[in-house]
Amino acid sequence: MEILVHAHSGLRYVVLGLLLGAIAIAFSKKDAGTSKIYLFAMVSTHVQLLLGLALYTWSPKVNFSMMKDAFYRFYNVEHLTGMIIAIVLITIGYSKAKRMNTAKRHKTVLLFYSLGLLIILASIPWPFRANLGGSWF
Ligand code: HEM
Repeated sequence: MEILVHAHSGLRYVVLGLLLGAIAIAFSKKDAGTSKIYLFAMVSTHVQLLLGLALYTWSPKVNFSMMKDAFYRFYNVEHLTGMIIAIVLITIGYSKAKRMNTAKRHKTVLLFYSLGLLIILASIPWPFRANLGGSWF
């Protein structure tokens, strides 16, 4: 359980880094016709989804009898919902982009990945967010 939490926690930086890298390439419009970073960024979010689902069944921070408490509500509902919306957006963006010509592909990735990144940033229990019990690693 502890290993899982640390993997999920540390992987956030891989996800954020890959998303930023993908967005930078999409923004620069450099031909990344075969760019693997779009794929790797999406896959990293899918790995987080799998780890997150496992944590969701095991973590003591998920507790449905405590829905009135903002701390539990965050892990019961907000973290999960935000992340799933972001991952769906990134996955739709990737699949749409795959079938497009280069110019359109970059635009699509820029839009969907940027939206996804913003939602992910807003849904992470950062240590500076009061009372969510998050850590940096
Ligand atoms: C890109 C997607 C995601 C990112 C970047 C992410 C990131 C994080 C981070 C940084 C933490 C705090 C860890 C700590 O402070 O030690 C966390 C905790 C948690 N996440 Fe996620 N998460 C993602 C998706 C998900 C999903 C989809 C689920 C559920 C299906 C989920 C379930 C959880 C749970 C249950 C915890 C609490 C674990 C515990 O400390 O017991 N996460 N997540």
